Amino acid sequence: MVPFFSRKHGVPSREACAVVTGAGSGIGRSFALELARRHGSVVCADINLAAAQETVARIEQLGASGLAVRCDVAEAEQVRQLAEQADAYFGESPTLVINNAGVGLGGKFDELTLDDWQWCVNINLWGVIHGCHEFVPRFKQQGRGAIINVASAASYTAAPEMSAYNVTKAGVLALSETLSAELRKHGIRVNVLCPTLVPTDIIKNGRLPGRYAKLADHALMNYALTTSDDVATLTLNRLDSGHLYTTPQMDAKLFWLMKRASPNLYAKALGLSYRLFK
Ligand SMILES: NC(=O)c1ccc[n+]([C@@H]2O[C@H](COP(=O)([O-])OP(=O)(O)OC[C@H]3O[C@@H](n4cnc5c(N)ncnc54)[C@H](O)[C@@H]3O)[C@@H](O)[C@H]2O)c1
Repeated sequence: MVPFFSRKHGVPSREACAVVTGAGSGIGRSFALELARRHGSVVCADINLAAAQETVARIEQLGASGLAVRCDVAEAEQVRQLAEQADAYFGESPTLVINNAGVGLGGKFDELTLDDWQWCVNINLWGVIHGCHEFVPRFKQQGRGAIINVASAASYTAAPEMSAYNVTKAGVLALSETLSAELRKHGIRVNVLCPTLVPTDIIKNGRLPGRYAKLADHALMNYALTTSDDVATLTLNRLDSGHLYTTPQMDAKLFWLMKRASPNLYAKALGLSYRLFK
């Protein structure tokens, strides 16, 4: 399939040949389905093949096409094979990669084991590095392409008891900012998604201490008003308009502004609210 978008005037999310990691659930599945609605073709990668296959079945119900691939983004070799499978499926290199696969990890710093850290860093940060490392040379060679990296508002809010998760997402934000500047002249766009709470299975699939796993899941499912479909649609629109950052919700925007307007005041307020409400 020949993807449609010119380097100068193109709309990357329309008729994209896309690869989405973590496409078997939540935000990744929403990205895949929204791309299908935009007449794209999607390689759906997930560590859970059955979940990726379910996403492809839904893509086909929308009249679009997709391929399910089992891939653990923490493994560089598996991401290399994913890129090769995508090249073969599309008949050329993809035009969009969405590095979305990620896991949740919570707990006080001294409660987390080094195994917890490695698990989280390998998936959330190395997974995105592997995706960029594999697809950037392809995009450069064809003189066009787009990258969406899924970070989180955690990349700048630095919420307590989320140290490992925060570190990985800050890394994804920094990588995306760097690539945006570096790749623009090659016709490659970058967008980094930084949402606060979105109702998905992230708590269920993550590692959170029992004392607040239930509470966090309840908050996510009942009080988070912005859905994964809203987030995917907005992010693709922001990418199309050439924006680097997507902070979908009001609280994500507010934290962003507070942190930049007065970083010291922000740090004090964060520490105080943690002491008061813990
Ligand atoms: N849900 C939220 O509140 C929220 C907020 C901010 C950022 N995010 C980020 O959004 C992204 C998607 O999360 P979600 O909320 O849709 O969660 P989710 O658990 O519903 O979906 C994550 C998907 O990633 C897959 N996955 C996990 N490890 C993988 C691996 N090693 N290789 C390949 N696939 C793997 C899972 O099988 C699952 O299908 C993550 O990067 C997450 O950090 C989520």
